[in-house]
Amino acid sequence: MRCHSTSTFPTHPFLVVLIVIVAHLGIVHAQGGSRTFSTRPLRGVFRVAGPPQPALAVLQGNAVLPCDIRPPGPNDSAILVIWYKNDVTPIYSYDMRGKHSEQSSHWKDKEYLNERAYFSTVTEPAALNIDHVEERDEGEYRCRVDFTKSPTRNSRIHLTVVVPPHKPNIIDERGKTVPTVAGPYEEDGDMRLTCLVSGGRPEPTVLWWRGETLLESKDGPGEFPALRRNILVVSKLSRSDLHAVFTCQATNNNISQPLSASVAIEMHLRPLTVSILSSEHAPLSADRKYEIACMTAGSRPPAKLFWYLDGKRLDNFTVEVSQDGNTTTSTLTLKPTLLDHDKVLTCRAENSRVRDGVEEDTWKLNVWFVPILHLELGSNMNPDDIEEGDDVYFECKVLANPWPYKVVWRHNGNVIQNKAKDGVIVQQYDLALRNVSRSQAGNYTCIASNTEGDGYSNSVELKIMYKPICVSDQKRIYGVARHEDARIICQVEAYPPPDSFRWAFNNTEEMVDVPQARYKSSTRHTQSVLTYRPVTEMDYGTVLCWASNTAGQQKNACVFHIIPAGKPESPYNCTLTNQTTDSLSVACTAGFDGGQPQHFLLEVFDQHTGLLQANVTSRENAAASFTVRGLEPGKVLNMVLYAVNAKGRSDPTLLEGFTLKIAEKQTGSPVPFEITPLLGVLIGVVTALLLVTTTILGALKMRSDRKAGRPDDLPLKKVSAPTAEDLYDADDRNPDVVPTNKAVKW
Ligand SMILES: *[C@@H]1O[C@H](CO)[C@@H](O)[C@H](O)[C@H]1NC(C)=O
Ligand SMILES: *[C@@H]1O[C@H](CO)[C@@H](O)[C@H](O)[C@H]1NC(C)=O
Ligand SMILES: *[C@@H]1O[C@H](CO)[C@@H](O)[C@H](O)[C@H]1NC(C)=O
Ligand SMILES: *[C@@H]1O[C@H](CO)[C@@H](O)[C@H](O)[C@H]1NC(C)=O
Ligand SMILES: *[C@@H]1O[C@H](CO)[C@@H](O)[C@H](O)[C@H]1NC(C)=O
Ligand SMILES: *[C@@H]1O[C@H](CO)[C@@H](O)[C@H](O)[C@H]1NC(C)=O
Ligand SMILES: *[C@@H]1O[C@H](CO)[C@@H](O)[C@H](O)[C@H]1NC(C)=O
Ligand SMILES: *[C@@H]1O[C@H](CO)[C@@H](O)[C@H](O)[C@H]1NC(C)=O
Ligand SMILES: *[C@@H]1O[C@H](CO)[C@@H](O)[C@H](O)[C@H]1NC(C)=O
Ligand SMILES: *[C@@H]1O[C@H](CO)[C@@H](O)[C@H](O)[C@H]1NC(C)=O
Repeated sequence: MRCHSTSTFPTHPFLVVLIVIVAHLGIVHAQGGSRTFSTRPLRGVFRVAGPPQPALAVLQGNAVLPCDIRPPGPNDSAILVIWYKNDVTPIYSYDMRGKHSEQSSHWKDKEYLNERAYFSTVTEPAALNIDHVEERDEGEYRCRVDFTKSPTRNSRIHLTVVVPPHKPNIIDERGKTVPTVAGPYEEDGDMRLTCLVSGGRPEPTVLWWRGETLLESKDGPGEFPALRRNILVVSKLSRSDLHAVFTCQATNNNISQPLSASVAIEMHLRPLTVSILSSEHAPLSADRKYEIACMTAGSRPPAKLFWYLDGKRLDNFTVEVSQDGNTTTSTLTLKPTLLDHDKVLTCRAENSRVRDGVEEDTWKLNVWFVPILHLELGSNMNPDDIEEGDDVYFECKVLANPWPYKVVWRHNGNVIQNKAKDGVIVQQYDLALRNVSRSQAGNYTCIASNTEGDGYSNSVELKIMYKPICVSDQKRIYGVARHEDARIICQVEAYPPPDSFRWAFNNTEEMVDVPQARYKSSTRHTQSVLTYRPVTEMDYGTVLCWASNTAGQQKNACVFHIIPAGKPESPYNCTLTNQTTDSLSVACTAGFDGGQPQHFLLEVFDQHTGLLQANVTSRENAAASFTVRGLEPGKVLNMVLYAVNAKGRSDPTLLEGFTLKIAEKQTGSPVPFEITPLLGVLIGVVTALLLVTTTILGALKMRSDRKAGRPDDLPLKKVSAPTAEDLYDADDRNPDVVPTNKAVKW
């Protein structure tokens, strides 16, 4: 529309001149009018009531200058509107006289307003709109309206052009421009931000905002004209201020958008919490590998984690930082030893960027381990001077966590029971042995058990000194011929080993010490060997031996009997221990060996033919036992046994035996048949007859055999022999014993 009107505006210079003249006439007319209607003295070229109306426009914005064009009376209308700037220069006109041709004409000062202005009559009131307001647009404007009937009306408007300030600039404590992020600041620290605003007319107001909240701030001293300084101080910053946005706003009008600058706050934060994540700080087992986690939160930048054990730095751990950097987790690999018990494990979170940025959590380790034991003899005891009858104490020293629930004592591997009656007193960590005997010598250990396992102590050997005593199981009777050397061995038990031996000879008349040259003693083997040669009858008798050690001299001598050497006694108490089709086993008890080593012979004869079937030797000393193989089945056999030594062969001992028949051996399962009463009677009668016949025949045969006197016909007889001691206590002879030389007559 504006375009249209512009195009219809007369542009010819002549027309312009004409309009100006017409306008002038109008003024004259008006002057005449004022002279006619006004009572006020003439003062100037026109008359306007009151001060000018104010109007505001922002630089580069839009100015609206209102002008009432409504006629004051009826049947009247405005015909011409002219705008003057500063009362003199017409700058815009609007002519409505060609209205009937629908062609209202706008004219504007090309140089001054150009295309920026347009007078709009559609608004109420009508107004001159100016676009892209410039600073020079400020000033007083006059609007003159001419009506068809009414006198001309003038109205004055003062346009103020507001110049907005430049965009604020935020400066930090160090005087540096902050583009987007201020800081980092410390917790509890102060923040001081300065907002610098230049330009602006009228002088702008500078405000600080945090979000929607207006903050208190102070104006600082301005430097050169139109530079404003506004200082915001936030003291005692807290965690909640992290990433808070502070905005500085500068404004000098309520038309245009205020100009602002914003900064976000960056902060360095202390670690807030740190904790060792272990379930209830449970006990640890020694020498097992554990993974212990520690977590810290709240530090910015992320905290570093370190581990210490009693102040000593540990290195074996991993660190992981959460995605948001708020939490740091560390996992320590720890293999505690029992020495770490009661040590303090520390997890330390450190943020070196802040003051006091250290936070710690500690854990006093409870390390469980298998008991460690040390066994020793009571402190007042000399382990090398314990004799039979002494009292002995052991102490089991324990290092354990948790404390043992059980302590066991062992002697040579066998558990010791508390037997106060026998002087064995077991008390947890102490063992007392009253009136020790040599059987209590040996190795002692204590064993303590806790939940981690069984701990074994060292082994302590208890050595009990005792006087030598005779070894009970040794050869006591030596059969020696005259002018023959006998080696008599005297064996003793003793601790410590004997340091000397003494020998003596006792016959019926006297007792004499044997000169040292006659015997050799070996203290290592705790024995002494006497070489003895009987020359006369008087040299037979008893030889005695005593040993001595630091504990003293042997109380009861070892007694050896020297007898004239003779043939051994026959084996006796013989039994058939096994019988098969082709073998026989015989076992007998050996008789006295005549004082010399003996062995045994077994000769087996066929009873019928009298032929030698086998001839076997047994080298065993104590018992005569034989197994004869390769015999014919179903044979009745006579067996002859002898004991043999250097002096000769004993009297024979006779036995009868037989090998099983093949058929006998093969008797399978019996054929079952029914025994009728008649059959039963028959069997009874036949059996009775057979028995009688056999008995009679047997008796007859035995008698005839004895008369014949053949070796294979020897009667089967049990033969006993006297024991060695019987030889010397003839009165105390076993009544069962039949003297060997009378046992069997050939
Ligand atoms: C207005 O003018 C018209 C004719 O032009 C006339 O008829 C009318 O009466 C006038 N009204 C007044 C109030 O003068
Ligand atoms: C602008 O401020 C003036 C006074 O300062 C007031 O009269 C006017 O209503 C305000 N305009 C708006 C749009 O707030
Ligand atoms: C960091 O962790 C702490 C503790 O869990 C929590 O209170 C805080 O809100 C967290 N901060 C952030 C920024 O996630
Ligand atoms: C750390 O732990 C790993 C895995 O448990 C182990 O292999 C390594 O020897 C340990 N290093 C040190 C120095 O203890
Ligand atoms: C010591 O033990 C021995 C046997 O071992 C016994 O004969 C003696 O009476 C005991 N002495 C005491 C004081 O108990
Ligand atoms: C006791 O221990 C010692 C040394 O280990 C060993 O030589 C000795 O034979 C042990 N004694 C017994 C009775 O086991
Ligand atoms: C020596 O022998 C005689 C008679 O046999 C005996 O009475 C005496 O006790 C013996 N002496 C010793 C010390 O054994
Ligand atoms: C005879 O021998 C039997 C078994 O072989 C044995 O039990 C018994 O003690 C022996 N008798 C004698 C006096 O040796
Ligand atoms: C008897 O001797 C035979 C053959 O030597 C053997 O197989 C069998 O086991 C022996 N029986 C007994 C009870 O020793
Ligand atoms: C059996 O053998 C021994 C020697 O080994 C011999 O002295 C003995 O005469 C033999 N007996 C017979 C009957 O041949």
